[in-house]
Amino acid sequence: MHALLHAVTKPVLTNNAPTRNRKLLAWVDEIAALTKPDRIYWCDGSDEEYNHLCGELVATGTFRKLDETLRPNSYLAWSDPTDVARVEDRTFICSAQKEDAGATNNWVEPAEMRAKLTELFDGAMRGRTMYVVPFSMGPLGSHIAHIGVELSDSPYVAVNMKLMTRMGRKVLEVLGEDGAFVPALHSVGAPLHADEKDVTWPCNKDHKYIVHFPETHEIWSYGSGYGGNALLGKKCFALRIASVMGKQQGWLAEHMLILGVKTPAGRKHYITAAFPSACGKTNFAMLIPPASFKQQGWEITTVGDDIAWIKPNAAGQMVAINPEAGFFGVAPGTSYETNPNCMESLKSNTIFTNVALTPDGDVWWEGMTKTPPAHLTDWQGKPWTPGCGRLAAHANARFTVAATQCPSLDAEWDNPQGVPISAMIFGGRRSDTVPLVTEATNWEEGVYMAATLGSETTAAITGQTGVVRSDPFAMIAFCGYNMANYFAHWLDFGKNTHTPKIYCVNWFRKDEHGKFQWPGFGDNMRVLKWIVERVEGTASASNTALGNIPNYSDLDWTGLDYPSEKFTAITAVNTVQWMQELTFHQALLSKLQHHMPAALTTRFETLQKSLRAPSRV
Ligand code: OXD
Ligand code: MN
Repeated sequence: MHALLHAVTKPVLTNNAPTRNRKLLAWVDEIAALTKPDRIYWCDGSDEEYNHLCGELVATGTFRKLDETLRPNSYLAWSDPTDVARVEDRTFICSAQKEDAGATNNWVEPAEMRAKLTELFDGAMRGRTMYVVPFSMGPLGSHIAHIGVELSDSPYVAVNMKLMTRMGRKVLEVLGEDGAFVPALHSVGAPLHADEKDVTWPCNKDHKYIVHFPETHEIWSYGSGYGGNALLGKKCFALRIASVMGKQQGWLAEHMLILGVKTPAGRKHYITAAFPSACGKTNFAMLIPPASFKQQGWEITTVGDDIAWIKPNAAGQMVAINPEAGFFGVAPGTSYETNPNCMESLKSNTIFTNVALTPDGDVWWEGMTKTPPAHLTDWQGKPWTPGCGRLAAHANARFTVAATQCPSLDAEWDNPQGVPISAMIFGGRRSDTVPLVTEATNWEEGVYMAATLGSETTAAITGQTGVVRSDPFAMIAFCGYNMANYFAHWLDFGKNTHTPKIYCVNWFRKDEHGKFQWPGFGDNMRVLKWIVERVEGTASASNTALGNIPNYSDLDWTGLDYPSEKFTAITAVNTVQWMQELTFHQALLSKLQHHMPAALTTRFETLQKSLRAPSRV
């Protein structure tokens, strides 16, 4: 057994390594020697451990226990005001060759980055405990799942990982003596010196590095304790590293929710949907159909709200798993009106970060209720009253909750075989140009649609509203390799698999007064129903230059008074707007021209030609 582990003396949370995996033991040893923690603790993933760690977080002031009657077994954390979101400008893909990271990623030469990180991690965990967090992305033992191990000096990370992944001893059992894992190293970058008092949210204000080494499938994250920067199973592993693994091994790691649709005839379809941040992904994943649809027998269930891993099965059918086991969603804007299933999920057993505290020990955020409470303590611990001019909750305030808390959770969500995919949706936030829904007429056209996806920024993300950002496949921040090669991988993937139909949606079209023209939320079911009927071959559509678009009579309008002129407006293909749109496409194609597959430039040319043809205005 390990010299260092025996040498560790401080008792309470120090335990022995519950594994014989040689690589893991050697790596823990190596990282402990570098980062010099006071203690090493191997997480077993039990409820007792979770409760114990949450208790410690309360004792150190990182967590506040919420009122046991109002919000049972739930906690609130407030982060450092400088550590509140993913840091895309500090995120790096350190491939051996710069061109393998591509034009959309930050790149630093790997040896240079390793030297920098080694310097930063040297002694970084002094005065702290290093938590060894073994986790499985995907159902334990599934042929689609992969194991990771996060070494982190943040107990906040350890408890969040328990909710977000399958975590602990059972993962080490699957890993065995020789199993492979993705090493994910994390430090908040705030070593404690003797007798130094800790702060409630340690982080490093000067240095933040979220680094991926795609060739060796390694993750090194330094300086932040927040969200995707620190919970390394999510964006770092399940998207950036997994997209590289998928390219190498013939599968896809995508920024997609997965939902189930049951038809009145009892047929079940699974649909994936990719949207950039701030487009209501969690709401769509947990959609409640309008009453009239429920009466007909339509049912929506949730498999995942953020990430899908997709592989062909033995029959060449595309199957998907949600690699995560929980939801780490944006709280502001979530309410019983916008997402009742989510609100029900958050009733208990939830960790809230950067939301406001009510005087009776519950939480509140903007949009949760129409009338805000008269007094709150805001996410920075300051007294707050309505109209004081500040947000009570940070715009990127989050909840962390296990998927099993969700009332709409699909019965197959944990099936190691995955669920078969009938259709894939891509969507962005666009006030004009992009129709409510368009069906690609083949795989290549669908890949082009997804590659040219754009979304308008919202004030919450960039402080600037309404600027269209190109976000191919909603993966701009998450693709771990050259984006043009990623497009090529998608095109290849379609050659060997029974491909689902691909759709592009836009729930956000506005009229000339800036008012949303589509009700969205539960009414998106009307579009989903049409998609399912297209998959089943029973619904019709009109062909346009962009693809197939439903006619007014193709959608089910029961229970909604929606005039056909309005529908015509939100499904219109406006040639002037599309000519402008093509200039964005062209800019993207030339930015990514190196390795750009010919099929996509050809599609650009045909699209340009058909839009010029005077068929539809
Ligand atoms: C997320 C994101 O947090 O996409 O899921 O930003
Ligand atoms: Mn996301």
